[in-house]
Amino acid sequence: MDRVSEKHAAREGGHRASPTSDTFREFIASDWALRDATLPDLSEASRHAAPRRDALSAAFPGCRLVVPAGGLKIRSNDCDYQFRPHSAFAHLTGLGSDREPDAVLVLEPRAQGGHDALIFFRPMAPRDDEEFFADARYGEFWVGARPTIDQLSAETGLEARHVDELESALRADLGQVDLRIVREADAGLAATVDELRAAAGVVQSLEGEQEAHEGDAELSRRLSTMRLVKDDWEIGQMRLACDGTARAFAAVVADLPEAVKRGRGERWVEGVFGLHARHHGNGVGYDSICASGDHANTLHWIRNTGDVGEDDLILIDAGVEVDSLFTADVTRTLPVSGRFSDAQRKVYDAVYAAQCAGIDAVRPGATFKDVHAAAIRVIAEHVHAWGLLPDGVDVEASLAPEGQWHRRWMVHGTSHHLGLDVHDCQLALREDYVEGTLAPGMILTVEPGLYFKADDLRVPPELRGIGVRIEDDILVTADGCENLTRALPRSSADVEAWMADVLASG
Ligand code: GLY
Ligand code: MN
Ligand code: MN
Repeated sequence: MDRVSEKHAAREGGHRASPTSDTFREFIASDWALRDATLPDLSEASRHAAPRRDALSAAFPGCRLVVPAGGLKIRSNDCDYQFRPHSAFAHLTGLGSDREPDAVLVLEPRAQGGHDALIFFRPMAPRDDEEFFADARYGEFWVGARPTIDQLSAETGLEARHVDELESALRADLGQVDLRIVREADAGLAATVDELRAAAGVVQSLEGEQEAHEGDAELSRRLSTMRLVKDDWEIGQMRLACDGTARAFAAVVADLPEAVKRGRGERWVEGVFGLHARHHGNGVGYDSICASGDHANTLHWIRNTGDVGEDDLILIDAGVEVDSLFTADVTRTLPVSGRFSDAQRKVYDAVYAAQCAGIDAVRPGATFKDVHAAAIRVIAEHVHAWGLLPDGVDVEASLAPEGQWHRRWMVHGTSHHLGLDVHDCQLALREDYVEGTLAPGMILTVEPGLYFKADDLRVPPELRGIGVRIEDDILVTADGCENLTRALPRSSADVEAWMADVLASG
């Protein structure tokens, strides 16, 4: 359906249809059943968000904290991308997929200490408001009904207000109160905050603005760091994401013969995974990498334009994001025929050994870096044993900081934190993340790989064009770790047996 047919009369970039006669407006606003004013229960996701807000409140006493969901983004003309709120907003409100464009969480400091939690948003418009039928961006006729103020309040446990009241709430006492905003969540609102700060005389120079922005960055950093350790509910959401991902992988395997037959099979694989991701949850947690043959050697191959050959390995790096926006991140490298060739198995088994070493290193008290160190040692040992390192370079020399020769075939790190974002907690300080110590409740990937490009003359011809990565999502537990994606087989023998089963039952 085309919203542009009304473009000559439209305003605001074509999101409103043409003005209409009063008679028509009265007509379209009348003869509707009463709206359902039932108040929902506090949602489970929002119930779990409350202690996170308390922790944030304790970390920023006396500060006004502004966490926007962000706004709709134009895809082209009057078409928007599907909305996904900023992860910090989702984490602190429990509002997940599609909720709530332009909403803003404000933690307002109380005189007696602590904060009141307010949410400013666009509540449902009345039917006699033109938005109801004529606003293709927000209107009920076009994108569905929104909750009322009371309904959102009941669902989230937050005090809800109309978004039109936001600016004056941000401006209030700005000279006295220290306001911090998550700038990257909503650039437009961040600019408004800059203007309000300048108008209130809080910021009077470029240095003053930089200082204010550093205060904002401190808030973002804290929000990112807070997510390093997941609570039980978050771990439950991650389990859901991992279960959905395992099912989507099985569906892909069942459809591999079709992907081979159709041509442009990488797209077919992407589509099958995406179908299951969208059905199980909100969708994919990041663009799926469906890389057959030499494409596997392009680390973020998301063009997915290639054929799937029947003797290829196909590297599939994909994850289901559930409605609460937690995502899995899994890679399996599969022999399309169901059986690894000798050369494919040789590379696969090396990566598998590296991954086992990495997973074995995940335990509380170990450092994040220990996991990479364990996995990369195995990678270095293999490329050394295969004679790929320069003459005279042994494993220790390659592992030394000034060596790193093995990195030619694995340029990426072994792990990252995982959660609401596929690369979660990215703003945490080095001392808390890369140099940090693992603790129960953390979830990280372990994903070593070996990538032998087709034109890599340093490797024997039979290995050229083979790229392998194996990636699982690992929860740190009280006494070790749990592989949340263990439903998907990993060893070459288990992968073959699993594929045979899935293909036989399909
Ligand atoms: N899927 C991107 C990554 O594994 O980090
Ligand atoms: Mn990953
Ligand atoms: Mn991945």
